[in-house]
Amino acid sequence: MTKQITVSAPGKLMLLGEHAVVYDRPCLVTAVGQRMKATITLTESPFFELNAPDVNVANYRKPISALLSGEVPKGAKFVEVAVANFFGKYPLKSGGIKIETNSEFSAEFGFGSSSASTVCTIKALSEITGANLDQKAIFDLAYKTVLDIQGKGSGFDVAAATYGGTLYFVTGGKVIEPLKVENLPIVVGYSGIKVDTVTLINQVSEKAKKYPEVIEAIYDQIKNLVEKAKKAVLEKDWATVGELMNINEGVLSALGVESQKLADMIYAAREAGAYGAKLSGAGIGDCMIAFTPTENRDKINQSITNAGGKVIDVQINVEGVRIENV
Ligand code: PMV
Repeated sequence: MTKQITVSAPGKLMLLGEHAVVYDRPCLVTAVGQRMKATITLTESPFFELNAPDVNVANYRKPISALLSGEVPKGAKFVEVAVANFFGKYPLKSGGIKIETNSEFSAEFGFGSSSASTVCTIKALSEITGANLDQKAIFDLAYKTVLDIQGKGSGFDVAAATYGGTLYFVTGGKVIEPLKVENLPIVVGYSGIKVDTVTLINQVSEKAKKYPEVIEAIYDQIKNLVEKAKKAVLEKDWATVGELMNINEGVLSALGVESQKLADMIYAAREAGAYGAKLSGAGIGDCMIAFTPTENRDKINQSITNAGGKVIDVQINVEGVRIENV
């Protein structure tokens, strides 16, 4: 049996369909080049040990039999619950494990570092114990882990970390369809505002309780525009994708998840010649994206900066979870 393995998984960027995808509608998501890495070592003593410097976890250690009991530090949650879920299904016969996670991206951009580290942990455990789970089994266990912790979420970020590429995705992995995409003419701007995804999901769901027909109709509109955008992405019809992104932003604003800062960046990108622009993710903060003609790219980057955003260099459509070395 292998004693040590390192795996990595990508972060994600929502293209279209956020919020509605929590409620049985589709979205489009792409995996980004910034990766999370996890190294797992089998040890002799029956302990779980974790070092995760990016989230201030140092020499965290407890008996395997005590997983999930007692106080679990915030930064250790996703990895510890992932380990507990994995050993719940595939028990470790003897000894313990030591895990180290490292991120190439700051958790603050909202690229999905928690989901990526969950996927890394399950993939690494699967390989090192010989369980050899396929992609869907990794997705299912990682998604369960995220739900155990957050209670809510579509799993689109878990799918991007597992499968990579650009996906057409329906809630909970009911559909996970890789799209044949080489590149997307995308610019990403970071707003500098930190948001809590679950808080925003809850805000939107309060609105849905108050105005069920109105909000359900918005979700249906989002479904329609995601279907059209999927077709346009496959046809490389960026002007249509841009227009659909603008419509998507309009209804996200109606859901109450736009903010002045994001709107400033989005309008700046549009005015500088983008095909279209919208927020990406839960809204209010994190990032916005714009689809841009190559010749306007510099001007659009500058306009986002002038609006107070930070343009982030991201590679998209990258490989999903993979073994780095054994
Ligand atoms: O905030 P992010 O980037 O994790 O995106 C959240 C997207 C939602 O649709 C609001 C939630 C989800 O799990 O799909």
